[in-house]
Amino acid sequence: MDILVTGGAGYIGSHAVIELHKAGFNPVIVDNFSNSKEEALRRVNELCSKEFTFYRTDVRDAVALSEVFAKHQFAAAIHFAGLKAVGESCEQPLNYYQNNVAGTMVLLELMAQHAVHNFIFSSSATVYGDPDSVPINEAAATRTTNPYGASKLMVEDISRDLCLAPNNAFKVCLLRYFNPIGAHHSGRIGEDPNGIPNNLLPYVSQVAVGKLKRLQVFGDDYDTVDGTGVRDYIHVVDLAKGHVRALQYILEKPADCYTFNLGTGNGYSVLEVVKAFEQASGKTVPYDIALRRAGDIAACFADASLAKAELNWQAEYSIERMVSDAWRWQSKNPNGYE
Ligand code: NAD
Ligand code: UD1
Repeated sequence: MDILVTGGAGYIGSHAVIELHKAGFNPVIVDNFSNSKEEALRRVNELCSKEFTFYRTDVRDAVALSEVFAKHQFAAAIHFAGLKAVGESCEQPLNYYQNNVAGTMVLLELMAQHAVHNFIFSSSATVYGDPDSVPINEAAATRTTNPYGASKLMVEDISRDLCLAPNNAFKVCLLRYFNPIGAHHSGRIGEDPNGIPNNLLPYVSQVAVGKLKRLQVFGDDYDTVDGTGVRDYIHVVDLAKGHVRALQYILEKPADCYTFNLGTGNGYSVLEVVKAFEQASGKTVPYDIALRRAGDIAACFADASLAKAELNWQAEYSIERMVSDAWRWQSKNPNGYE
């Protein structure tokens, strides 16, 4: 069964390709390599002993993407392609709406034309903004504070409207990821951010490997266990498996729009993550307490019970496994895919 995987060369997409293959699907990858390298796909091929079909195509390019649709009978599309840096989205809002919203429109229109009605979308816990309470369930209010978050919520709204239309044939699954970290156990594929990382785990990894000097811990005066920010870190392989279950789920379900949190349900503070990383790596991660980062919230973790009940999926890997896999990837590939 051919499954279109946009953004399949990226961090989450590359892990999802492996899990889709293991589950018997045939992922067909589309990526413009704006935030990834072909080397990632070469390693995915090597890990699966298979040459996956891939197209260097921009999802906004309707002509090129329609040629891809003409070559395959897709059973579904899993749409990872998009831009994801919050700070950058404030500097380049048009670029974010163009890639994340207009790009998704091109994809959805082609899916409708080619009668491909199963759509899985990479949404984010960012749509909950600063939540009223934790853990956060799928019925919680949504609100966004930056163009990146707004672009995710817009695609969610478009998807819900699509499914409300008379005679709708679409089955949409909106997956709200919490904080994906870690890497494939082989250490061959992982997260390879451009420049200085914004997110905690890649930053900590680069301090541990000696590429960066010290971690800045953004605030120690939050109302949390030790004052530092609490997040729901989820192993990227668990997350990838969640997509396989979501795909199997919508293939069997009636046309509608389904929404799931993909998180573990556990929150860890910045200092707890640093400690776990130090233990796993045997390295010291020197840090300073810095000012709070603008836009950050105290605590964010999922109520993950809906995905468990409906998708029969729950995250399995512990924080120790997440950070030890992250370290294996970082220490074996200090310069990422270069
Ligand atoms: P990533 O940047 O590693 O992967 C995205 C991939 O999409 C890249 O390979 C990039 O080259 C490709 N791409 C971007 N724009 C494209 C376009 N117009 N046409 C074709 N390909 C394009 O990011 P990721 O961490 O793997 O995230 C995947 C998806 O999950 C994104 O939509 C992201 O917003 C969402 N998400 C990520 C996180 C996270 O923390 N990583 C959290 C929540 C949601
Ligand atoms: C960020 C994004 C969010 C996105 C998520 C997953 C912001 C404001 N939010 O969330 O939209 O969905 O990534 O990709 O960018 N921290 C430090 N020092 C660092 C980096 C991070 O102390 O150098 C702290 C943060 O303050 C936070 C925690 O580590 O408490 C996690 O940060 P990060 O990995 O950036 O994820 P989020 O802030 O949850």
